[in-house]
Amino acid sequence: MTGKLRNRTDLDQVIPSQVPDDPVTRRMKQNIYDNPTFFQAYCKLRENDSGLNGLVEEPAIGTVLPDLRGLKVLDLGSGFGDFCRFARAQGASMVRGVEISRKMIEAALGRTRDPRIEYVNCAMEDLAVEPWAYDLVVSRLALHYVRDYEAVLRTVHGDLRDRGQFIFSVEHPVCTALCAGWYEDDHGGQVFWPVDNYSAEGERRQKWFVDGVIKYHRTIATYVNGLLQCGFALTRLLEPHAVPGSLEGRPDLQGTLRRPAVMIIAATKLPVVEPTPASAPRGADARQ
Ligand SMILES: C[S@@+](CC[C@H](N)C(=O)[O-])C[C@H]1O[C@@H](n2cnc3c(N)ncnc32)[C@H](O)[C@@H]1O
Repeated sequence: MTGKLRNRTDLDQVIPSQVPDDPVTRRMKQNIYDNPTFFQAYCKLRENDSGLNGLVEEPAIGTVLPDLRGLKVLDLGSGFGDFCRFARAQGASMVRGVEISRKMIEAALGRTRDPRIEYVNCAMEDLAVEPWAYDLVVSRLALHYVRDYEAVLRTVHGDLRDRGQFIFSVEHPVCTALCAGWYEDDHGGQVFWPVDNYSAEGERRQKWFVDGVIKYHRTIATYVNGLLQCGFALTRLLEPHAVPGSLEGRPDLQGTLRRPAVMIIAATKLPVVEPTPASAPRGADARQ
């Protein structure tokens, strides 16, 4: 085989056993979108939304959204606020966007004229639970930046009313496993997408606009079982690719037909069953 990995140096960085376990970085939450170089490049990437977000993730997540009329909605990692505004345009009664990056919040505020959309500048892991406040929680392409998935699940579960929905998209685990890009031939053609260290969950570092962007790799089983253990029922799991016909003249996105770039999960909060007096354990008074 004459091919080569495009990002050989990145590959060296992402082999999990070589990522130093630094207790300081472990506590800190990454806020790469506030890096000026990263922010500028990301804004440019999303200018027309004709890439992965616009052609793959957005049409697919649209197929699992409920009727938004009258719903109270929480968006975790709300970015430019696109989904917040979309939800309101579809009739949501109020929307709160939570976003770690000040620059993204400022961009969102600049595009939003709606008193029923509120943005909160904090990490989603640090959000206080608002019991039963929401009908729908959405998170789009943000959870793979979060170390503590279970903490977010507990908050979302607490925030949702019974049978409320949690719908999220993440970079697909076959992409975050190695984070090394396509294996290319000598002419830059895509030969295959390498997957390795799939079971070794945790931090990956990647060059994306800037060096050292941190993502967290989790297996599909972890994403799904975390939900089930937290009290959700899984309703859909999608591994979408571009809508047929949308890729003409887009060789850069042909790879989305060969391996899934995004995973979308829809889950419903199971009703919390309060113990009835008959089924409750007998208290001290009942003991003989
Ligand atoms: C790929 S962008 C997606 C933005 C938006 N959801 C969308 O689909 O257009 C990921 C967003 O998640 C935000 N983010 C990353 N980690 C976060 C965290 N721990 N808490 C809140 N937001 C976070 C980033 O700042 C960024 O705006």
